[in-house]
Amino acid sequence: MRPLLPLALLALPLLAACSRPDDALPAAYRAIDVPRERLADPAARLRGRELFQETCALCHGPRGDGHGPRAGSLGTPPTDLTRASWQRSASPRFVYWRVREGVPGTDMPSWKAFDPDATWDLVAYVLSLGGGEDRAAGAASKLPG
Ligand code: HEC
Repeated sequence: MRPLLPLALLALPLLAACSRPDDALPAAYRAIDVPRERLADPAARLRGRELFQETCALCHGPRGDGHGPRAGSLGTPPTDLTRASWQRSASPRFVYWRVREGVPGTDMPSWKAFDPDATWDLVAYVLSLGGGEDRAAGAASKLPG
């Protein structure tokens, strides 16, 4: 058995490299093209911020930290979208999927009313809420307070 152990250890990073974070998404969302330029565009983040304040802040709070006016009355607390661990785990496709389809069994609605472009604007904004370099360049730095 002993010689197998080093072999297994060698194989581990290989396996990790093969399983990507989006593998768990439904096929239609796993395969979707990510508009990288749009996601990096401060104007897209600003549009996303506006949509977020209009439609999402009610639950997620104006800063996205989960403290919206309706948060207390919901069965499941709205996700704190600024949390570092959540931001690390959230890929653009994952956020796009959640916004399009909602989270069944919770108060997170599906937002099919937004067209794909507007949804990516929302993704651009949501992914800028974690801080770091993006924050300085993005819409989040312009939040009040
Ligand atoms: C009526 C309240 C409500 C509104 C409005 C709302 N959400 Fe949510 N949202 C929730 C709740 C509750 C959850 C937590 C679901 C869970 O814990 O699985 C959530 C979760 C999320 C998540 C994380 C999903 C995950 O699995 O990690 C994202 C991203 C999100 N919302 C984005 C948005 C965006 C963008 C909008 C506006 C277009 C929005 N939400 C509007 C209630 C809301």
